[in-house]
Parts: sequence; structure tokens; C-alpha cells
Amino acid sequence: MVDLSVKIAGLKSPNPFWVASGPPSNTLYQANKAFEAGWGGFVWKTIGAPILNVTNRYGGIDYGGKRVIGFNNIELISDRPLSVNLKEIAEAKNRWPDRLVIVSLMVESKREAWHEIVKRTQDTGCDAIELNYGCPHGMSERGMGSAVGQVPEYCTMITEWVMEAAQIPVFVKLTPNVTNIVASAHAVKKANADGISMINTINSIMGVDLDSLETQPHVHGKGGHGGYAGPAVKPIGLHLVSQVAKDSEVGLAISGIGGVETWRDATEYMLLGASTVQVCTGIMKLGFRIVEDMIDGLTHWMEEKGFQNTHDFIGKSVPRVSDYKDFDIMYKTIAKIDYDKCIKCNLCYVACEDGAHQAIELVSQNGQRYPRILDDECVGCRMCELVCPVHCISMIDVDRGHGEKSWSQIVAENPGIDQDWGKMEAWRKKHGFVIH
Ligand SMILES: Cc1cc2nc3c(=O)[nH]c(=O)nc-3n(C[C@H](O)[C@H](O)[C@H](O)COP(=O)(O)O)c2cc1C
Repeated sequence: MVDLSVKIAGLKSPNPFWVASGPPSNTLYQANKAFEAGWGGFVWKTIGAPILNVTNRYGGIDYGGKRVIGFNNIELISDRPLSVNLKEIAEAKNRWPDRLVIVSLMVESKREAWHEIVKRTQDTGCDAIELNYGCPHGMSERGMGSAVGQVPEYCTMITEWVMEAAQIPVFVKLTPNVTNIVASAHAVKKANADGISMINTINSIMGVDLDSLETQPHVHGKGGHGGYAGPAVKPIGLHLVSQVAKDSEVGLAISGIGGVETWRDATEYMLLGASTVQVCTGIMKLGFRIVEDMIDGLTHWMEEKGFQNTHDFIGKSVPRVSDYKDFDIMYKTIAKIDYDKCIKCNLCYVACEDGAHQAIELVSQNGQRYPRILDDECVGCRMCELVCPVHCISMIDVDRGHGEKSWSQIVAENPGIDQDWGKMEAWRKKHGFVIH
């Protein structure tokens, strides 16, 4: 049997799956339901400053018949009184001693306010605190959330205030709405935080209603930017997690968030450096029971791969995240069509002909036209494989016969090639590079 438990920031989670701070983590009722379903951790919906919420709060992007592939909200932090939340947090922890109850916090940027909320929160017996420096709407207009997360000096300052009062591990939840998230990670590391949660939601406007001309969602005719989440943001979350995991100075445990709905999504985050993974939109769409499939899926994958425990593979793909200059430029692939599967829709031809490199021709046979790859013209871009609706195209390795070579090596061996098109042309010809 594989061991799904995870050690993170001095805590032990029975599995890597946590409910993220948001609507699914608002109440004791939900904590009980989540833990009954099998979630290892529960990050309580952010508590702190008093707020009032509006309607409508959510917007969704549908694509190709699939609903809510992207999700946006202008919801604020918890609108339930602090005392009610704190009482329920204590009850949740008391009832579920083997699970992690983490409480997300956000108050105004005053040392005393942070000291007070930290003390009251840890008095509940909860396992850890998560600082919400990420909420990109509403709270930021009041100087909280991403207004803090976007300024590294504020991240350090407020985290230091929190660390003065905290006796339990402190995670800082980062905003992706910055140009360099590694700078934010350095800022919280400097203040001795215990871990990083990332990402919070991304600034976005979901759309405009072409009848009413209102933005989506709208509040009685007015709208604005909200936080983007759901499957559409996963690639951004993966990238940002990998950047922080890769940085040699940060060295803090990461809880990965953004677009996780399946065990596969979660495992990808873990391979790129997240020790645990949090889910918000996935639960809002599909319910707490998705964790059952996550546990099953991860267990089977670990058995198949021969990983005994989660720490055998957490971060295992991080070294593969490299810079362009280190990629093997000699590596070449070309497209190959499996004609047993091809339905002759010719979408690959259209994509290659108009949008890529004119390396597919149409051949007529028995009154039907079908695509054929022109091997010598194919630059190996992979567009045809991506548009094929029946997955009948694959990219095949071709040996160029020149071994491996990176851009850095090529420039070192051919001084000036990066500034002289003549030299570049000569090099490309010699090494058989197709150009379009
Ligand atoms: C409706 C909604 C409310 C949210 N409220 C909070 C919150 O109170 N505190 C917080 O730290 N993050 C909040 N988040 C952000 C999520 O915890 C999470 O970081 C983000 O949604 C990305 O994950 P996902 O794609 O699984 O939803 C909220 C997200 C949504 C969609």
C-alpha cells in the first residue's frame, strides 16, 4: 500500500488534498462534509475585517459545450461574524483531530489588528494560518488582499507582524497579479513564513452582454474586474508554482492552487513542487466527493510508478523546467498520421496550410480527399496534432545525425551567429534545418 500522507511546514496531512479558502470552506457544516468525503485539509474561508457582499457575484466561461471552464468572482471574504467563525473552527478541529484545519486571515494593515486576529485564531486550536495577500477585488480597494501581495515590502512587513504573534505554522497565499512572483516569495521568506500557498485568482472581466451592454457579472448595471479561477487557470498556476519551487533561495513548502479538478491536475502540481494541492472551483462545480477519485487516482498512479510515498515524487519534474537557451535544438520531430483512425476531416490540413507551415497536402483518392504530411517541409510545430479531433496524429522523433546541442553551445561554438543572418543561414543549411 502506498502512503498518501504529506509532511508540510511541520504538519502532517493524511493526504495532499485540501479544500481551498472560498465558498466550499465557509462553515462547520461544510468542514464536516469535506472531511467525511476524505479531504486531508480545510482552509477556512478568509475571516477578518467586516464586509458586505453583492449580487451577482460569479461569472463563467463556457467553451465548446463545456460549462464553466473558467470562473470569475467578485466575492469578498467571509461575511459571517468573526465570533461565529471562530467557534465553528474550534468545533471542526475538535471533531477532526487527524485532519488539518487552516484558517485564512485578512485584516487591515495595522500591527495590532494582525496580532489580535492571529491570537484569537490560534486559540481555536487550528493547525495553521494562511495569510490572504491575494484577493484582487474589493478588499484590495481597502488596502488589503492583493494591495499587500503586489508590494514585496508590504508582504514582508505584515508577515513579520504575524510571525511576532504566531505560534503555529503560517502560510502566505500569493497573488498571481504581479510581474515576478518569485519576488513575492522572497519577501515572505525574508519574514520567516513557514509555507506558501499559490495561486489566488487572476484579474479578469468575463465578458460583455451584447444586448444590455453590461459587463459579466454585473451588480445592478455596474461591473468590474474579478478573480479568475477554474480549469482555465491551471497552466498559469503550474508555471508560477514551478518558478517558486525552482528558486534556490525560497526553499519553502508550497501548497499549489488553481484549476484542480482531478487527481491528474493535482499530481501535476505536485510534480512541479507543490506538497499539497487546494481546490475551490472544482468543488463548487462538482462537490466534495471529487476527492474520492483523487485519492483513488493518485494511489493507482503511485503504485504503477513504484512511488511508496508522496515525497518520492513531489518536485520531481522541477529540474525539467529549463530555459530556452538550454533546450536541445537538434531534437527534431515530424508529424505522422495514423490512417486507420483518420476521419479525413482535413482540419490538420487547414491549420497547417493557413496557420502554420504548409507541410500537409491533400491527396484525392476514390472521390475523397485526405491529408498527407510532407516530411521534408514539416517543422515539427505540433499544430496538426493539437487540432485533430480523433487524436490520429502523433509526433515522431527524427535523428538529425548531429547529436545534442543547445542554443548556448551553438553560440559559443559559432561566435556572432546570434547577430549575423548570413552565419545563421549557413549553419542551418549545414544541419538540415527546415525554414518557412
Ligand atoms: C467564489 C470564490 C471565492 C473565493 N474566496 C476566497 C477567500 O475568501 N480567500 C482566499 O484566500 N481565496 C479565495 N478564493 C480563491 C481560491 O481559494 C483559489 O485560490 C482560486 O479560486 C483558484 O483555485 P480554483 O481554480 O481551484 O478555484 C476564492 C475563489 C472563488 C472562486
